[in-house]
Amino acid sequence: MIPIPINTRFLAHMNDPILLGSPLQGFTDFHFRNAISNQFGGIDRFFAPYIRLNGKLDIKKVYQRDLAPDNNQNQKWLTPQVMCNQVDEFMFVLEYISALGYKELNWNLGCPYPMVAKKAMGSGLICHPDKIGEILEKACSQNEVKISLKMRLGYLEKTEILDTFSTLDAFDLEFVAIHARLGVDLYKKQADLEAFSTCIGKTKHPLYYNGDITSVEKFREIKKAIPEIQHFLIGRGLLQDPFLAKMIHEDTLEYPVDRYRKLEEYHNDLYTHYLSTSSGPTPIKMKMLGFWEYFSYSFPESAKVYKKIKKASNTKNYQWAVEEIFQNAKKQNY
Ligand SMILES: Cc1cc2nc3c(=O)[nH]c(=O)nc-3n(C[C@H](O)[C@H](O)[C@H](O)COP(=O)(O)O)c2cc1C
Repeated sequence: MIPIPINTRFLAHMNDPILLGSPLQGFTDFHFRNAISNQFGGIDRFFAPYIRLNGKLDIKKVYQRDLAPDNNQNQKWLTPQVMCNQVDEFMFVLEYISALGYKELNWNLGCPYPMVAKKAMGSGLICHPDKIGEILEKACSQNEVKISLKMRLGYLEKTEILDTFSTLDAFDLEFVAIHARLGVDLYKKQADLEAFSTCIGKTKHPLYYNGDITSVEKFREIKKAIPEIQHFLIGRGLLQDPFLAKMIHEDTLEYPVDRYRKLEEYHNDLYTHYLSTSSGPTPIKMKMLGFWEYFSYSFPESAKVYKKIKKASNTKNYQWAVEEIFQNAKKQNY
């Protein structure tokens, strides 16, 4: 018998996970996405934070800027997201993003905040499969834009998602991404890998995993538990460590030797941008403090680093604090 040559490069590629940048409102805007792509790489596709209309068929300027093709060098690898529970709102956003050239719209069925969930939106919509079906009926009746979902396991109970699958299976969806927590868990409890596993094989749609990928070791653990899953969304882990996606792809625990120089460049890039777009010292301080809540995990003494930034009372002090933190880190080269 003639041996069939095995294309090992192809097999290696098949095993390579596909990593997606999970959307984080207030953080993962176009500037962040471009900075990650240019300076670190590793994210195969980003999701933009959700568009919410609040009852008016009008796209706010902030969303327009975030999705503008000129601001997104890799528009092909960006999926806009909508959070709503009305057919007309869904279709309005779909037409808006289609006119910009986007080919996929992601629907947020995961937002956990009680003010959202109580209005049967975000994760509060998961227990209303009829309403989900009504919107998908219309959304999937056009051929321009594909629809994908990002859900939690449920709002109150992890069985809620299982009860939606027969509705979802009536439509052609790109995928269903599952953030493996309940709405009521907010972001605190550990992601429930076991509950995610019970969803595998229960729907015809490809499932994407999301939750607590914060290190290469953690990724390996998760991948081992759900080997059949190839797509993974990374949220806060990428804010904590912008090298993470690249290192997962390379399956390495070794940071580049100039880790802190690169991190400093990245910080300065974000800071310069937000300084030029913020309206005064307090908004820029709050914006950067938000980032440092995550960034500080890139330093061994994370609590001390965060405290130093928090204490900086004005822009000058902030800049000094940042300089000192990076100088120290580069000297120690942890
Ligand atoms: C501050 C913040 C803002 C978020 N904004 C969005 C959003 O706009 N759309 C969305 O689908 N999920 C949003 N999420 C959820 C994340 O995308 C992600 O699903 C969640 O953080 C779990 O993944 P992680 O453990 O990798 O962070 C947000 C989370 C946080 C903490």
